[in-house]
Amino acid sequence: MTILVTGGAGFIGSNFVLDWLAESAEPVVNLDKLTYAGNLQNLASIADDSRHRFVQGDIGDYEQVSQLLQQHQIRAVVNFAAESHVDRSIHGPEDFIQTNIVGSFRLLEAVRHYWNALPSDAKAEFRFLHVSTDEVYGSLEQTDPPFAETNQYQPNSPYSASKAASDHLVRAYHHTYGLPVLTTNCSNNYGPYHFPEKLIPLCIQNALAGKPLPIYGDGQQIRDWLYVKDHCSAIRRVLAAGKIGEVYNVGGWNEKANLDVVHTLCAILDQLKPRADGLPYASQISYVTDRPGHDRRYAIDAGKLERELGWKPAETFESGIRKTVQWYLDHQDWVGNVLSGDYQSWMAKNYSGRI
Ligand code: NAD
Ligand code: DAU
Repeated sequence: MTILVTGGAGFIGSNFVLDWLAESAEPVVNLDKLTYAGNLQNLASIADDSRHRFVQGDIGDYEQVSQLLQQHQIRAVVNFAAESHVDRSIHGPEDFIQTNIVGSFRLLEAVRHYWNALPSDAKAEFRFLHVSTDEVYGSLEQTDPPFAETNQYQPNSPYSASKAASDHLVRAYHHTYGLPVLTTNCSNNYGPYHFPEKLIPLCIQNALAGKPLPIYGDGQQIRDWLYVKDHCSAIRRVLAAGKIGEVYNVGGWNEKANLDVVHTLCAILDQLKPRADGLPYASQISYVTDRPGHDRRYAIDAGKLERELGWKPAETFESGIRKTVQWYLDHQDWVGNVLSGDYQSWMAKNYSGRI
């Protein structure tokens, strides 16, 4: 038995592969295009593990995916592969359409044809788990209840629209062709190997480098934070016990305003690595022009996953964020390696126009 993980060199995918191999004996084939967000260093600790087979490739390559499915007699696919950064989707949506929509479609086609030809027992056991986001549900008002699986889709950015499209395709492949799919819609993750273009790792890194900590708009936008390893355990649980065709929201019950998140990071850094001049890191906070179309609030009701499959996050925000800051302090070599020329040009593009 082998599973196929796509996007397993990215932030969540690599955490998932590492956790999977720590928890299970089952081999993993890891298909990743290695875009700017994919990093084989995330997988360095399993470089000699014969249960992990890395393959560079695109989920949109029907032939390659079909060949991998056949060759390894894959019994489940976990699809993380995506373009994932909202700001990049605003500057250039094309890659998001290609990977998140066209790529997901071609992946589904390859999986459908493979699955159709399986013997009946393997066909019944097969699963396609699609990893998606809470952003497909749009933005909440302060007094709205958190997103339930039944909420209407109202995506607001090119990123969330492309993820919504992929969710709809996954749903359609179940209803039309009977493909045994599962979908998870998760809130904001944080933790090890998070690419430093996203709020938390960016602010840790900028703080240590003495650079401004850019807060979009008034910093009162709310996100619901989940430690990445809790997301991985949720996916394992849904893969093992989720009901075919169902959607499961995944979240940490941790709604925080962005400004509060950054103040928390600063306070932890003040304790763990105080600035040489004795000033607090919060003195580096800098308000910049808001993200266009910025969603005000996300919050996830993860009650279905808890009630039906018994999953709960293990970390609180306080424990998870402290671990995360410590991880970045301990892995400055990893950060140094991802701050490549491409990263520098993205930072210039995204932040130089903001005041
Ligand atoms: P990421 O950007 O860190 O990693 C994405 C990975 O996918 C990279 O390794 C990249 O090389 C790979 N990839 C991109 N295009 C590909 C293609 N065409 N074929 C094969 N591989 C390709 O993203 P992430 O934050 O790890 O997110 C993983 C998944 O989880 C995404 O589907 C995202 O929408 C979803 N998600 C993310 C979060 C979050 O907070 N980061 C929350 C909820 C859901
Ligand atoms: O909600 C799940 C989503 O969370 C995932 O689907 C996405 O893949 C993931 O990137 C993340 O999207 P966000 O846009 O919420 O994450 P990001 O880290 O980019 O931003 C978090 C919040 O912080 C958001 O309100 C924008 C704000 N922000 C972000 C950056 C990069 C700032 O204020 N300043 C910044 O420099």
